[in-house]
Amino acid sequence: MLEPNPKPTISHNRREAAIARSHESHESHEKMTNETPVAIITGAASGIGQSTAQLLASRGYRVAIADLREPAAADTAASIRASGHEAISVHVDVANEASVKAMVETVVGSWGRLDVLVNSAGLESAKACLDITPEEFRRVIEVNTTGTWLCCQEALRRMLTQNSGAIVNLSSIAGQKGGGMLGTAAYATSKGAILAMTKSLAREFARSGIRVNAVAPAFTLTDFVRRQLATKPEGFIDSIYAATPMGRGAQPEEIAEVITFLASPQASFITGAVYNADGGTAM
Ligand SMILES: NC(=O)c1ccc[n+]([C@@H]2O[C@H](COP(=O)([O-])OP(=O)(O)OC[C@H]3O[C@@H](n4cnc5c(N)ncnc54)[C@H](O)[C@@H]3O)[C@@H](O)[C@H]2O)c1
Repeated sequence: MLEPNPKPTISHNRREAAIARSHESHESHEKMTNETPVAIITGAASGIGQSTAQLLASRGYRVAIADLREPAAADTAASIRASGHEAISVHVDVANEASVKAMVETVVGSWGRLDVLVNSAGLESAKACLDITPEEFRRVIEVNTTGTWLCCQEALRRMLTQNSGAIVNLSSIAGQKGGGMLGTAAYATSKGAILAMTKSLAREFARSGIRVNAVAPAFTLTDFVRRQLATKPEGFIDSIYAATPMGRGAQPEEIAEVITFLASPQASFITGAVYNADGGTAM
């Protein structure tokens, strides 16, 4: 059983008030209304996106599990519904403009609104600068950076009609410090661009009631990391833990808490921020 959230002290508009009410009844079987807040989480078929979708659902949001991998997205949505919350799955390739447009149309068509976008879809890249091909480099940028941009753009079009919304983008410690431990230059480039994007959009939409923030995790134990560890020598993980002040990696649930906070009315005066969730690595 999750601890109830503190009640927000300020409700700026109907959306914030609706989210605040949904937080008060955040456990299962909450009564859904047309004002119940709606969140799209890309990359929600696994890892950080999946944990975030589960947490947002438990806090009273209707959640759209958007991912390239349809069966895994459908399974995630089904397991959220099985715990008494409202969830749908939506197929999306975030790098494809038409697909992103269709994702937002499907969600708004189903639930009539869009309050939160979490951009968690992403690709790792373990190749060093002199090894990566131009095609591989472009794909990392296309999914991680352009994909985040396209989802923001389409969500912002809808959020503007509501004069409210919150976007949380997934950057990375690699985007702050450069790649090195797992992700390499191409990945770090794609994630660094997300920081500039987040701040620019935050500035552009701050007076429209829309907040845009980023989370920069370090090493988080998901399939993303497991795939990269599989290519490294045994014991490699210990070198990562040794370089992390807290001496461990994160669980995806720990990153989901930060994302959910930034998406919530509790973060109503926060925009253009980058929250490191990195066990002290960026210090
Ligand atoms: N795990 C980490 O250590 C770590 C650290 C820093 C940042 N991040 C970032 O967090 C985000 C989530 O990472 P994760 O560890 O949960 O990874 P993950 O691989 O577990 O999940 C990523 C999801 O994105 C989906 N996806 C990939 N390409 C897509 C596309 N074109 N369209 C739609 N969906 C697509 C995948 O199917 C997958 O379900 C990523 O953006 C990653 O860069 C992760």
